[in-house]
Amino acid sequence: MDLAKSARAVRENAYVPYSHFKVGAAIKSAGGTVYAGCNVENVAYPEGTCAEAGAIAAMVAAGETEIVEVYVIADSPEPVTPCGGCRQKLAEFAKGDVSVTLANLEGMEAKVALRDLLPGAFATEHMKAS
Ligand code: THU
Repeated sequence: MDLAKSARAVRENAYVPYSHFKVGAAIKSAGGTVYAGCNVENVAYPEGTCAEAGAIAAMVAAGETEIVEVYVIADSPEPVTPCGGCRQKLAEFAKGDVSVTLANLEGMEAKVALRDLLPGAFATEHMKAS
């Protein structure tokens, strides 16, 4: 299944009793497998998890750690954009040139490189003593 179809399909399973805003994410790994995730909310609001986090968790659980492509979709007027925390989560497993497609249900899509979504990403280099 391709990334767009996978993200659109998994979005249907989002558990969103509080925001009513369903998000679907699909990531392709270096091994060529597509992993999908949806947002899962919680009555203790901060415990909810984003769609991207679910897809990343599925990839890591399957034994993979490199993302080569990302697709995120929601029912938003403009193509949905990953939240700040998800940009950092994606940056853990994806290089700056990885393409992130932002989409909405109407078929609008925008492609951006991860480095443009998270310029100046915090990385291990920042933890090295000077
Ligand atoms: N959400 C995601 O799943 N991914 C994002 O990148 C943006 C926000 C979810 C979290 C919450 O369940 C709902 O969208 C509203 O914020």
